[in-house]
Amino acid sequence: MYRQYKSSEEANTKSTKMASKKAASSPTLKYIIFLGSTREGRLGERVSKFVSNHLTKKGKYDISVFDPGVMKFDMLKKPLHFYKDRSEAPEWLQEANEQIKKADGFLLISCEYNHCIPPALANMLDHFPGSSFSWRPSAIITYSPGIYGGMRAAMQLRAMTGELGCISVSNIFGVPEVHKAIDSDGVPQNDHMEKDNDIDKELRY
Ligand SMILES: Cc1cc2nc3c(=O)[nH]c(=O)nc-3n(C[C@H](O)[C@H](O)[C@H](O)COP(=O)(O)O)c2cc1C
Repeated sequence: MYRQYKSSEEANTKSTKMASKKAASSPTLKYIIFLGSTREGRLGERVSKFVSNHLTKKGKYDISVFDPGVMKFDMLKKPLHFYKDRSEAPEWLQEANEQIKKADGFLLISCEYNHCIPPALANMLDHFPGSSFSWRPSAIITYSPGIYGGMRAAMQLRAMTGELGCISVSNIFGVPEVHKAIDSDGVPQNDHMEKDNDIDKELRY
C-alpha cells in the first residue's frame, strides 16, 4: 500500500515502472518502535529490547526507538500540527516528526492500563499529525504479567492506528507473563517468542 503511494508520488518525475523497481530493491527498511510506558521498573523496556534485537539480527531493518521515558514529551500541551508555523515548535519535536515521515513502518509496544492504551503511548502519538504516519503499516505488540498479554489495549490500538492512517497488520503479537517470557536484557525465555514471531513478514507488505 505504502509502496503504491510512494510510487504514485514519484511518478511526477519518473515513470511508475522505475519507481516500483526502486521500492522493490530497497535493501533496508526503517521502522520506529513506540514504547508505551514511562513507569518506574517498567517491563516494556525488555519487550522493546527483544523486538529491536529480533529485527536487527535479520539485517534488513534500521530500528529506532521513541521512548517517552527519554524523549521530552510533556502531557500534551500543543501538538505539532496545532502550530500555525511549525518552525516555531520545539526543534526535537520537528525532528521526531521528520523521522516518522521517513519511516517505512511502526511497531507499537504497549502494556494495558485499566484495559486501555497506556497514557504515555497515546500522549506520545498525539503529538504528531496523522498525515506523518499515513500509508504505512504498523504492528501491535502487547504484553502483561498476566495471561491475556495486554489484548484489550491491542484492540484499542487497532482503532487508533486506523485514525492515524497506519492500520495495524493482521498479526498482533501478545506476550503473556512477560516477566517470564523475556529477561531484562531482552533475551527470550521460551520458544513462542522467536518461533511464532513473524511480525516483520507482514510489515514488509
Ligand atoms: C495503572 C495500571 C493499570 C493496570 N491495568 C492493567 C490491566 O487492565 N490489565 C493488565 O493485564 N494489567 C494491568 N496492569 C498491570 C500491568 O500490565 C503491569 O504493571 C505491566 O508491567 C505494565 O507495563 P510496564 O511495566 O511496561 O509499565 C496495570 C498496571 C497499572 C500501573
